[in-house]
Amino acid sequence: MNSERPLRSVVEDIVPPPDVTFAPQRTDLTGPRSPTRGMGGRESQPLLGRDHEHHDFENHFPDDPVFMDVIRSADVAIENGIYPEIIYQGSSGSYFVKNAEGKKIGVFKPKNEEPYGHLNPKWTKWMQKICCPCCFGRSCLVLNQGYLSEAGASLVDLKLQLNVVPKTRVVKLASETFNYNAADRAISRTKKSLSERFPDKIGRHIHRVGLPPKVGSFQMYVDGYRDAYYWLGKFETEPLPEPISTQFQFQFERLVVLDYIIRNTDRGNDNWLIKYDVEEGEKPETPERDWTMVEQPKIKIAAIDNGLAFPFKHPDSWRAYPYYWAWLPQAKIPFSTEIKDLILPQLSDMNFVQELCEDLYELFRKDKGFDKSKFEKQMSVMRGQILNLTQALRDGKSPLQLVQMPLVIVERGKPGSGPFAERVKTIGDTFTQSFQERRPFFSWC
Ligand SMILES: Nc1ncnc2c1ncn2[C@@H]1O[C@H](COP(=O)(O)OP(=O)(O)OP(=O)(O)O)[C@@H](O)[C@H]1O
Ligand SMILES: [Mg+2]
Repeated sequence: MNSERPLRSVVEDIVPPPDVTFAPQRTDLTGPRSPTRGMGGRESQPLLGRDHEHHDFENHFPDDPVFMDVIRSADVAIENGIYPEIIYQGSSGSYFVKNAEGKKIGVFKPKNEEPYGHLNPKWTKWMQKICCPCCFGRSCLVLNQGYLSEAGASLVDLKLQLNVVPKTRVVKLASETFNYNAADRAISRTKKSLSERFPDKIGRHIHRVGLPPKVGSFQMYVDGYRDAYYWLGKFETEPLPEPISTQFQFQFERLVVLDYIIRNTDRGNDNWLIKYDVEEGEKPETPERDWTMVEQPKIKIAAIDNGLAFPFKHPDSWRAYPYYWAWLPQAKIPFSTEIKDLILPQLSDMNFVQELCEDLYELFRKDKGFDKSKFEKQMSVMRGQILNLTQALRDGKSPLQLVQMPLVIVERGKPGSGPFAERVKTIGDTFTQSFQERRPFFSWC
C-alpha cells in the first residue's frame, strides 16, 4: 500500500482520448436555430442546459475545454440542421453526432432511448423485452443507467490512465432526429407557432421553443478504427510483426484491466475497435506493399460500448456474460511489467480505490433513479474485482487466469458473514471480503 501517493482528482488525471480528431469549429454559421435553442434574448444562452428530465446534469465542463468545444460544435451543427444520425445496428437509440461540416464527432446515447428506456426506437427489441423478458437484459445491472455506465467506464479509464476509452461524459442534446413522443413534438410545434405569431408578447415568455433536451452519454468519435472482429481475423492469417505485437499486447492488457474492474458484461469483439495504420508521410510508395512491412506503424485499441457494466452483483451462473477476449491467444500471456507498474501502485492504495468509488458516486448520484444501496453493491463488486486483479498482477497471472479466479465482493461497513467472510480494516472503514459461493456456469468468469 502506498499511503504517500497524493490524492489527485479525476480532473488532474485527465489524459487525451485515443486519436480523437475533429474538424475546426465554425461559430459564424447562420440559419435555423436548433430545437434546443431558446428564442429572442435567450439565443445567447447555453443551448443544452435545460433540465427537462430533472437530472442534475449540465453541459458545463470547465475542467475540460476540449470536450466543451466538441459539445459546442455539436450544438452549432444541430442549429444548422445537421442532425445526429441514428446508428442502425444495435438494440437502442444511439446516434452519430456531427459537426457543422458533417463530420462525425461523437456518439450520443440518450437515457430514455436505452433498451429499457421508454422511448427506445428499436421496437423489435422492445417486443422481445415484453414477450420474452427472460432473454432480454441482465438481471445483475441497474436498469436504464447505461449512459452512466458509459461515462463511468471513461472515468475509470482516466483515473487509471489506461487511455483506451474515448472520452465519454454525460450531456444533454435535443434533435429532430431523436425519438420523442407525440406530446413533446406537439408542444414543441405549438410553442414554435405561438412564438412566431407573437414574438414580443408570447415568444419572450416561452423558455424553450424546441424539443426537450435528452440526457445521455456522449462519447468522442474515434477516426480510422475498425471493429476487433475484422483485425483479429486478419492477425490470424498475417501475424503482427514485432514490435507491433508487443504494442498490441500492452493495449490489450489495458482493455482487460478496464473490463475486469468495471465487470463489463458486453465485451464482444464488436464492442472494441482497433486502429492499425501507417503514419502520415510514411505511407508506402507502392500500393501493393505488404501491410506487415510498414515502418513504425501504430496500433491502438478503443473500448467503446461500455453501457452494460457496473453490475450490483456478479452475473448469475447460467448466464455469466464472459469476456470474449478471454479466448484470444493474447489472454494466455502473463501480464507485462509495464501494466503492473502502471496499475499496481494505484490499486494497492486503498485511498485511491476509495477516491475512485467517490468519483463514481458523484457521477451516478445525479440520475433521478439513483439508489444508494444499489450503488454500494455496485462498488462492492468493483472492489472485489480490484482485489482479484491486484492479486493476479502480483502473482504474474495471465488475463485468462484472472477470469478464472473465484469471484469476490468487498462490502463496506458490514460485519462479516458466512464461512468465507474476512474482515479488513482500513482508515475509517471496515471492509468485508466474501467469495461468491456458486461457481459460474462458464468457468471464464
Ligand atoms: N466512439 C466511437 N468512435 C467511432 N465509432 C464508434 C464509436 N462508438 C461506436 N462506434 C461505431 O458505432 C457502432 C455501434 O456502437 P455501439 O456498439 O456503441 O452502439 P449500440 O447501440 O450500443 O450497439 P449494440 O446494441 O449493437 O451494442 C460500433 O460498432 C462502431 O462501429
Ligand atoms: Mg455495440
